[in-house]
Amino acid sequence: MSNQTSHDFERDLSLKDLLHGIDKQRLQTALDTLLGVPSALFNPKGECLLGLPEQAKDAVSQTLYGELEPIGRITAPAPQERLKAAADLITLLLRSNARYLMASELHLQTQQADFEELQRRHKALELSEQRYKALAETLEIRVKQQVKTIEHTQLKLYETEKLASVGRLAAGIAHEINNPIGFIRSNLTTASSYLASLKKIGDQLPSCRDIDALKAVWQQEDMDFIQQDMRDILDESVGGTARIAAIVKDLKSFSRVDDAERENADINLIIRQVCNVAAAELRGKAELHLDLGEIPMLHCHPGDLGQVFLSILMNAVDAITASPGIIQFHTAYQDNQITIELRDAGRGITEADMPHIFDPFFTTKEVGKGMGLGLSVSRNIIQAHHGSLTIVSRPNTGTRVTIALPVKPDS
Ligand SMILES: Nc1ncnc2c1ncn2[C@@H]1O[C@H](COP(=O)(O)OP(=O)(O)O)[C@@H](O)[C@H]1O
Ligand SMILES: [Mg+2]
Repeated sequence: MSNQTSHDFERDLSLKDLLHGIDKQRLQTALDTLLGVPSALFNPKGECLLGLPEQAKDAVSQTLYGELEPIGRITAPAPQERLKAAADLITLLLRSNARYLMASELHLQTQQADFEELQRRHKALELSEQRYKALAETLEIRVKQQVKTIEHTQLKLYETEKLASVGRLAAGIAHEINNPIGFIRSNLTTASSYLASLKKIGDQLPSCRDIDALKAVWQQEDMDFIQQDMRDILDESVGGTARIAAIVKDLKSFSRVDDAERENADINLIIRQVCNVAAAELRGKAELHLDLGEIPMLHCHPGDLGQVFLSILMNAVDAITASPGIIQFHTAYQDNQITIELRDAGRGITEADMPHIFDPFFTTKEVGKGMGLGLSVSRNIIQAHHGSLTIVSRPNTGTRVTIALPVKPDS
């Protein structure tokens, strides 16, 4: 289209083109006045473009030139020089009109070209927009897939760290359970021997008419002591089974993996359960001080938070240089936020290690002791609860881990 327009622009303008826009009536009047007789304009084909054709009869003609080419003629029964003057005037008029026509055509072309360019760009923009849209859609799917993979891997890491810490505690927990089982078993053996004494007295009963003889057997079997001791060993055994039940319960609540749903939980209780589970591991190494303040229930994953508390507690135990080291757990509530603080007076973290402690698999511990997952998993869990986990440490002085968990009023 633009080609055609430029072609039009380059072509020679005809007389008809050149008269375009000129008030024919006024031109005619001007010519009539100038020449004193009626006149007419013809193109090279002999078509009359101004005036009346019959005016040409017996008249004189004067050629009209465009740039160089003849583009028509003026005819009038007038003297030749007058006609030439009229022709010059018309040529002047047509040339200036030609310039005006070209300028306006150029203007139109430019506008047209701008509009076409605009349309072309708009189309290109639409196309690229479509491409981006399609790309964004596949990207969204790919991102979702990636997120799933990452979540899966992360879950695996959580499990690994959890298994490692439970594994580490297993020996202590086994001892913790075995101990009551041991004395319960011994108590049951004693109880069964007491039953033999009771049987002896029972055997006397049918033939016995002498209450003194019965009293003698009672004394011989030391039944007063048995009565008292029986009560004691039963109480002790009931206490022992309660201890086993409590350990199993704490362990279960801590190591559960089925709490996909959040629930309202008591952070202090989770800390107590973790400390119970770790009790055997701490014995002889660390002295645990609990300073648990009054805090509200928190909507959370109790199992995951238990894992965090155990991780930082085990790190504190590992940091102890002189046994028994003192480890302090402190909880408080202020400004809709629960803070959990764990302090140890252990070896601390060097300036060089500090930037790496949250990196997965970073550990300064010997092979088999640390996997380097505790802090990275813990920070992830705390972030999933919209909280923060920060560590301040001084080498040879100690370490303070601070966890802040926001409490939503509507939870
Ligand atoms: N309470 C602490 N005292 C001293 N160093 C610590 C303490 N907690 C963490 N660290 C340092 O951070 C490292 C990473 O900890 P973590 O991610 O729990 O892995 P791991 O305990 O398996 O080494 C530890 O190896 C240790 O160097
Ligand atoms: Mg650790």
